[in-house]
Amino acid sequence: MPTRRNPALPAAAPAAAPPRLQANDFLDITDLSRDDFFLLLELAAAMKANPGAYRKWLAGRGLAMIFEKPSLRTRVTFDVAMQEMGGYAVFLDFTESPLGEREDIVDVARNLELWLDGIVARTFEHASIQLLADAARVPVINGLSDLSHPCQALADFLTLRELAGDFRQLRKFKLAYIGDGNNTLHSLLQAAALAGIDCSIATPPGYEPDPAIVAACQKTARQHGGQIKVGHSVAAAARGARAIYTDTWASMGREAEATQRARDFAAYQVTPAVMAMARPGAWFMHCLPAHRGQEVAVEVIDSPASVVYRQAENRLHAQKAVLAGLLLAHTRARA
Ligand code: CP
Ligand code: NVA
Repeated sequence: MPTRRNPALPAAAPAAAPPRLQANDFLDITDLSRDDFFLLLELAAAMKANPGAYRKWLAGRGLAMIFEKPSLRTRVTFDVAMQEMGGYAVFLDFTESPLGEREDIVDVARNLELWLDGIVARTFEHASIQLLADAARVPVINGLSDLSHPCQALADFLTLRELAGDFRQLRKFKLAYIGDGNNTLHSLLQAAALAGIDCSIATPPGYEPDPAIVAACQKTARQHGGQIKVGHSVAAAARGARAIYTDTWASMGREAEATQRARDFAAYQVTPAVMAMARPGAWFMHCLPAHRGQEVAVEVIDSPASVVYRQAENRLHAQKAVLAGLLLAHTRARA
């Protein structure tokens, strides 16, 4: 049986103390300063290398997990992350009755903060997570909204850090994203901008990422020596890339558009021919769940170039760093 931990890790000494993050919540990558972004990645790497050193960091602390949509990775990794640091998680199924339907979101927050030390929420509307964060006196973490997926991006950059060395080597690194201009891409762009790498995007016309997010990321990227390009040409995006990333063509909540999108995205599948346009040895990335034969060819996702399971594993370590950074800085509210 293969070992659960990946053996090929950069050396990382155990961190003596949790980081002091500037933000109270983690709703978007933009909640992190550049220093905090790197600090979290360093802590995540240290936690991955020495998980035993952190097993009491969240002793006795509890996390509420609100989910309006299905999940495998996010739900399991937050639960395991809490347990591996001595805490526990309470799952709240909102898939049948969206947040705010049975009672005000503000009241959900004001109750949960009495019993638990943090909230992770996966919602359709980003505004629901923002409302939770505004109301709760405990930290709120975005487990994916229609706008963004910051925990995924943090895990993806932990993955790139492992594969490419450190961030000094990530400079002059070109990441390509081919597919839908969605939540996953928004957070990936924000992380790429902070890291100062080059990011080149190809979407079908009409499926571009939010122009305001793109403009803000282009500005941040320039400050840190990177650049972000958005277009429709797969070849332009893929050419010279060290990694090619894609995501589902129809995100959760958009299933009714799947047939139309399959037509519109037909030329945007990541195939062996697309991988051949990238740098030799380029990695294939996907947040999962994947649809083999749609956004990615079987021969790509199941090839040695694919790092999708490493990305999935790194969700655990990245989120442990986020949980430690946020939950240890805040004390549960008392009525
Ligand atoms: N990548 C990701 O967030 O997976 P889940 O939807 O399974 O949580
Ligand atoms: N863009 C996808 C990501 C799933 C993790 C969705 O929102 O369904």
